[in-house]
Amino acid sequence: MKHIIFTLSLILALIIVSCNKDQMVPAAQIDASLRSMVANAAPDGVLDFWLLPQADDLASIPQDPQNPLTEEKVELGKFLFFETAFGTEAAQEEMIGTYSCATCHIPEAGFRPGSAQGIADGGVGFGINGEDRVRNTSYSEIEMDVQGARPLSLISVAFVENTMWNGSFGSTNVNIGTEDKWVGDLVTNNLGLQGIEAQNIEGMEVHKFHVTPELVEEYGYKEMFDNVFAEYPEEERYSNFTASFAVSAYIRTLFPNKAPFQEWIQGNMQAMNAAEKNGAMLFFGKAACTNCHSGPGLSSVEFHAIGVDDMFMRPSFRTDETDLRNLGRGGFTEDPADFYKFKVPQLYNMSDTKFYFHGSSFTNLRDVVEYFNKAVPENPNVPAEQISEKFKSLDLTDEEVDDLTLFLEKSLRDPDLARYKPETVPSGNCFPNADFQSAMDLGCN
Ligand code: HEC
Ligand code: HEC
Repeated sequence: MKHIIFTLSLILALIIVSCNKDQMVPAAQIDASLRSMVANAAPDGVLDFWLLPQADDLASIPQDPQNPLTEEKVELGKFLFFETAFGTEAAQEEMIGTYSCATCHIPEAGFRPGSAQGIADGGVGFGINGEDRVRNTSYSEIEMDVQGARPLSLISVAFVENTMWNGSFGSTNVNIGTEDKWVGDLVTNNLGLQGIEAQNIEGMEVHKFHVTPELVEEYGYKEMFDNVFAEYPEEERYSNFTASFAVSAYIRTLFPNKAPFQEWIQGNMQAMNAAEKNGAMLFFGKAACTNCHSGPGLSSVEFHAIGVDDMFMRPSFRTDETDLRNLGRGGFTEDPADFYKFKVPQLYNMSDTKFYFHGSSFTNLRDVVEYFNKAVPENPNVPAEQISEKFKSLDLTDEEVDDLTLFLEKSLRDPDLARYKPETVPSGNCFPNADFQSAMDLGCN
């Protein structure tokens, strides 16, 4: 008798353990139906569509044929991305050598700035993850390196063929037919490059770097440039141009492979808990987030108006209502049909900082999910007819909003993006910033 009761209760316990608390659906069945749902949301119907390349599997990473990835190039780019020594074009002398690409794209902040608006030259301080960077009060606004939109993340940027919120860089893909706009800052589009490469040549100037043969020698980079760019004649080998190619190669390798959702795709069913799986079910199903976040990195080179506020509507520098960035894609193409439409950004590591959308108008991830749930545009300047037809209310319950938020917050968060940082940079400088306050914050002194 004892024996039978024991066996029965063991069976009962097993049933309870293996069942979802609400619906009493066995866990294995939940995983199976989620796997087919996620697969169905892919254009090719295959689950692995959402599996990101491993950072060191260079052959599997999308790349520009004019800038093929090699291990040595990625390694050089990894130093240059964090190197403050080449920041010689600062508006004021005391700020020379104090900023890097990573000032506005901090690994621990999801390769975003950690604050509402990135400030490189003309900013001071770091805090823990960039949240304490403020204007250097001796700078006038016009001297500052800031833009009228929040820096985009660089996670999975290899999938972004046309870069920037307006997609203006890159001569391929959606920019075919926009050739008459490739002037001024966009002249590099005439080189036939993809967005990342075309943009970063220009980005080296915009962000006030100047790589010269003298500095390359002085800061210990000569051998690396000689190895990586051997096919360039010496007089062209040590320059912003070559440096930008190395940096472009490096940022193409930034994938959130350790995110629980990535592990779950690979077969670790324990990587996400029941609530996260319910969130995933909503993301790929009822909430239809993949209608727009449709690429492997959950980004896409599509442009949609969802009517969020612009940067100038909150305290910010060097932007106002006439900023062309407020018009999104339309600010580049000048086609009224494109006005207020922004590129669909990637969604990994959203919880590493608290600023969302191009104008940093939201500071709480659940509020962002609720914004999509209600689908009521906040920006009065965006005409109703521009708003995307795919931006419509979802009827999610409070609990569903919680689960969807949890999926973004936890399942899509790689907890170890710091592995993409070098231990030190060849100059020995403090990084990502080297101004006095940052050096204190970063423990460099
Ligand atoms: C002052 C802050 C700042 C610095 C420094 C900075 N960026 Fe950015 N970055 C931005 C902003 C802002 C955007 C978005 C601008 C826009 O779309 O209007 C951006 C966008 C990008 C994008 C486009 C991503 C996409 O999905 O379209 C890439 C690539 C990029 N930055 C690379 C770099 C590199 C490489 C460096 C160093 C050479 C760098 N950034 C330095 C602020 C910065
Ligand atoms: C109509 C297309 C569309 C749909 C559907 C959509 N998004 Fe987006 N999403 C965008 C665009 C475009 C942006 C950038 C808007 C901007 O900043 O102007 C964005 C931004 C975001 C951001 C902020 C990213 C950042 O870097 O600041 C999050 C988070 C987000 N979406 C989550 C979701 C979730 C969750 C869903 C499903 C409930 C969803 N999105 C559905 C188009 C869409």
